[in-house]
Amino acid sequence: MKIATITVNPAIDQTVSVDDFQVGKVNRSQWMRFDAGGKGVNVASFLADYGMDVAVTGFLGDENADVFERHFARKNITDRFIRVPGETRINIKIMDETSQVTTDLNTPGQAPGEYAVSRFYEQVEAMMEACECFVLSGNLQAGLPSTFYADLIKLLKSKKCRVVLDTSGDALADSLKAGPNLIKPNIHELSGLVNKPLTEIKDVYRSASSLLNDETTLVVVSMGASGALFVDKDQAFVARPPDLPVKSTVGAGDAMVAGLVAGINKKLPLQDCARLATAFSLSAVTRLGRDLPKPEVIEDFKKQVAIEPFKK
Ligand SMILES: Nc1ncnc2c1ncn2[C@@H]1O[C@H](COP(=O)(O)OP(=O)(O)OP(=O)(O)O)[C@@H](O)[C@H]1O
Ligand SMILES: [Mg+2]
Repeated sequence: MKIATITVNPAIDQTVSVDDFQVGKVNRSQWMRFDAGGKGVNVASFLADYGMDVAVTGFLGDENADVFERHFARKNITDRFIRVPGETRINIKIMDETSQVTTDLNTPGQAPGEYAVSRFYEQVEAMMEACECFVLSGNLQAGLPSTFYADLIKLLKSKKCRVVLDTSGDALADSLKAGPNLIKPNIHELSGLVNKPLTEIKDVYRSASSLLNDETTLVVVSMGASGALFVDKDQAFVARPPDLPVKSTVGAGDAMVAGLVAGINKKLPLQDCARLATAFSLSAVTRLGRDLPKPEVIEDFKKQVAIEPFKK
């Protein structure tokens, strides 16, 4: 099965390494690199590394698309991004090697115009022929309505495509009625959605299961270092990561989404999906960059994940 990921607001990550970064001073950098980024691009990268057939779409600025083009060619990802005039936004990460603290400077990204949106829709319709599952990841840039995903989900569901949604705020709230098959909010996103603090795991469980219905059949709530809760209508599991040295939590959620999609694609039972998704997330947490390690390493991570049935 071919998987498609959609990233409407991708970004180039520019990582700049500085020793002892000083605000307001001239700092000298040791090295700098550009990486293709954006949540759906990350999900696609992890899936491609796992050997899956993946296509990507969304909007890319035509002036700096080469960073993405090289990345997609290297990973064997089918590039179906709509090119729009101008540049894709650049998010700067200043990595202080001395303190090991990273400072992020994120830019908003331009909303695509009406013409680009109509070409994007045509592209998605064409992709629906070959792709059975679509992953919609990330926030919507200003200028796009919060119902953008909802409209897309309606179209995808009308052709029986499966939809995985990972977003937050109004875009998440406004999408639920359209019936995404799987959602993966983190605990803060879920708390915002149900509009209450979620201090205990049983509150997380209640809120997650309140979102289940005939269309949305799986809710996964990630909780950072505490792991994740996987809830469907018959069962619930908590997956806890082992205590490993954390290099970076950037992309942990994206890796978890990729692992979930990989597990569902293999038709694994829920607890095995939970194990695989958590193993993928550990790949992101214990390493820098967005490449999945060798299969042996994933197997080793899988063994280290603790899965417990959630007791209601
Ligand atoms: N500090 C950590 N230690 C161990 N595992 C972690 C840590 N942070 C995240 N993880 C793993 O990654 C999974 C997803 O993390 P998290 O809940 O932070 O996702 P997220 O907030 O959606 O992340 P993202 O910023 O990528 O959107 C967790 O369920 C857990 O398995
Ligand atoms: Mg997330």
